[in-house]
Amino acid sequence: MPTAVPQSINFYKGKFQLKEEIEKLNLKNVDEALNICDLTTVVSKFYTWKKHMPNVTPYYAVKCNDDPYIIKTLADLGASFDCASKNEIKLVLGLGVSPDRIIFANPMKATSHIEYMKAKNVTDSTVDNEFELYKIYKSFGDSNVVLRFLSEAENALCPLGDKFGCDAVEDAAAVLLLAESLNMNVTGVSFHVGSGCSDYPAYERAICTGSQLFKFGRLIGHYMKLLDIGGGFPGDNDDMFSNIAKVVNNSVDKYFKGIDVRVIGEPGRYFVAAAYTLVCKIYSKREIRQKDGKLEKVMYFINDGAYGTFNCLLYDHITIKVIHFENDGTETFKSLIWGPTCDALDKICDNLYLPNLREGDFIAFPNMGAYTVPTASPFNGFSVPKTRYFLRSDFL
Ligand SMILES: Cc1ncc(COP(=O)(O)O)c(C=O)c1O
Repeated sequence: MPTAVPQSINFYKGKFQLKEEIEKLNLKNVDEALNICDLTTVVSKFYTWKKHMPNVTPYYAVKCNDDPYIIKTLADLGASFDCASKNEIKLVLGLGVSPDRIIFANPMKATSHIEYMKAKNVTDSTVDNEFELYKIYKSFGDSNVVLRFLSEAENALCPLGDKFGCDAVEDAAAVLLLAESLNMNVTGVSFHVGSGCSDYPAYERAICTGSQLFKFGRLIGHYMKLLDIGGGFPGDNDDMFSNIAKVVNNSVDKYFKGIDVRVIGEPGRYFVAAAYTLVCKIYSKREIRQKDGKLEKVMYFINDGAYGTFNCLLYDHITIKVIHFENDGTETFKSLIWGPTCDALDKICDNLYLPNLREGDFIAFPNMGAYTVPTASPFNGFSVPKTRYFLRSDFL
C-alpha cells in the first residue's frame, strides 16, 4: 500500500469506469491528450509478483516509465530498482530509496556515472566485458560486479542480445578470471531474455547457463550469491506471467539446488504497461471516397501520435487497441487514425473498423504505460500528455 499518496490523486470505488472518469475530468476544452494512471494496477501487480515468485525480489526497471509516482508507489511497497544511468539513480535516491536497493544494470557506463554510484554508495552493477570491468576497477574497484551473459528468447518484442551480454562459453571465463586477478568481487550473474518475451523456456535455458557460470565463478574464488533474471515479463497478461513464474521457480529449484542464492528480477513493463490508459481527442476528420463516391475510409486526427506517446509503435513494437465510447451495434467504417504532426509517418493505426466518430469525441488506448512516457517528444510543438493518477479507495 502506498504510504505517500500524491496530492492530486483521484479516488474511485469498485471497478474503474473509464467513460465516467473521463466525463468527470471535463476535458472538452483541453487540447492535450491525457494519461490516466491507475496506481491500483501497480499495487496489484506487485502482490501478484509476490504471490507467484515470492523468492524473487523485483528491481523495477526505471527506464520503462520514470514517473515519480510509480517509483514512489513501488518503493513504498518494498520493491527495489534497476537504474540505467546517473540520473535514474538520482531520481530513485531522491524519493527516499536507500542505495542498497539499487542495481546499476546498464553494462556500459561512463566513468562519471561510476563515480556517482560510488559517491552515493550504490555498490551493485552489471558488466559484460573486460574493458568495462577494468573501467569499474579504476573508479570503484571494491564494488560488487554482476556478470551479464547472453541468453536470448526466440520470440521477444525487443531483443537485446545484439547489444549486451557476454557469450557464456567463449567470453565469460575471461571476465571472471580478470576480475579474480584484479581482486574484484563478482557477486553474481545476470541475463535479459528480451523485453516482451513469449518464449517461456528461455528463462530455463538462461537459469541453467547461469548456474554453470556460478559454479565456475565459485571455483575460481568469487563469492557468487546473486542471480539476476532480468526483465521480459508481460504487462498485460497475468496468465502468461504466472506461466513464466512457474518456469523460473522450477528452474531455480532444479539448477540452484543446494546453492545459497539470492534471486532478483528487473521487471519494467510488467508493473506499468496496464496501469496507463491514454485518452485522446479527435480534433479533425476527413473522408476518403472512391471515384463512384462510395466511402472508402474515414481518417481521424488525434492529439497524440508516433512522436509523442505512440513512439512505442516504433521502439516497442506494440499492438494498439482502441476503446471508443459509442454504443455497440452502430455501423462501423474502415478507419485510419493519424497523430497530430505534419509527418505522414505519424500514423497510429490503419484498417480498423470504428463507428462514425465526431470531432470532439474521445477515444482511449489501454496498456500504454511501458516505454511511452519517458520517450515521448513535443515534435511539431505538440505537448506531451500530462498524467492524472487514480487509486481505488479501498486500497488504502
Ligand atoms: C537491463 C534491463 N533490465 C530490465 C529491463 C526491463 O525489461 P522489461 O520491460 O522487459 O521487463 C530492460 C529493458 O530494456 C533492461 O535493459
